[in-house]
Amino acid sequence: MEDKGSIILKGKRITLRPLKQGDEVAMYKNWVTSDQVTKYLTWTPHTTIKKTIWLLNMWIEEYQDLSTYRYGIVLDNDEVIGMIDVVRRDDENKKVEIGYCLGEAFWNQGIMSEALDLMIKHLFDCGYELIESCHHVDNPASGKVMKKCKMIYQGVVKGEHFNNQGQPVDVDVYAIRREL
Ligand SMILES: CC(C)(COP(=O)(O)OP(=O)(O)OC[C@H]1O[C@@H](n2cnc3c(N)ncnc32)[C@H](O)[C@@H]1OP(=O)(O)O)[C@@H](O)C(=O)NCCC(=O)NCCS
Repeated sequence: MEDKGSIILKGKRITLRPLKQGDEVAMYKNWVTSDQVTKYLTWTPHTTIKKTIWLLNMWIEEYQDLSTYRYGIVLDNDEVIGMIDVVRRDDENKKVEIGYCLGEAFWNQGIMSEALDLMIKHLFDCGYELIESCHHVDNPASGKVMKKCKMIYQGVVKGEHFNNQGQPVDVDVYAIRREL
């Protein structure tokens, strides 16, 4: 692998950039407190900005490791409106799993599809061979994003993932392999 870390990636409308001190305000405003955004995720909404600051500081530390791929999604005004990151890595098989979330004010404008496309290209560029992502079976909008980015449906995995109430859930899995 030739890990390049979370270098800035520019798309047509969005930029993916590392999260930085001060982003907690927009994170808190745009997505981390939202019941809608977290409905099918593994974590519950933040109830104090202290939690957001704690998480952000930990993530900023992690950028020292070049195998950290975690991006804030920004429009022209540089305000973070969501994020996309590698949530699991399997170096032996050159495989990664991607997760993402976006403030609901920005849904259905093609933003996450653009972000996922940029992320996939970057990870292939860094030498990864297989990229996976999965979503709760009741969250088809996320599957649509994966399909739009040419990921291929692999099947359903039953009960191995957990929702933010700690209950097991079924997920649809998608993957894309680097073309040789
Ligand atoms: C899922 C999520 C990332 C999608 O982001 P987005 O920027 O709105 O995605 P896009 O606009 O690129 O694409 C969404 C597609 O899903 C479609 N869609 C929206 N709601 C849908 C639904 N209930 N059923 C099926 N398709 C749906 C949209 O029409 C769009 O397709 P189109 O471009 O062909 O019209 C965003 O809704 C989100 O952050 N949700 C909360 C967190 C989350 O669920 N993360 C994923 C965890 S696996």
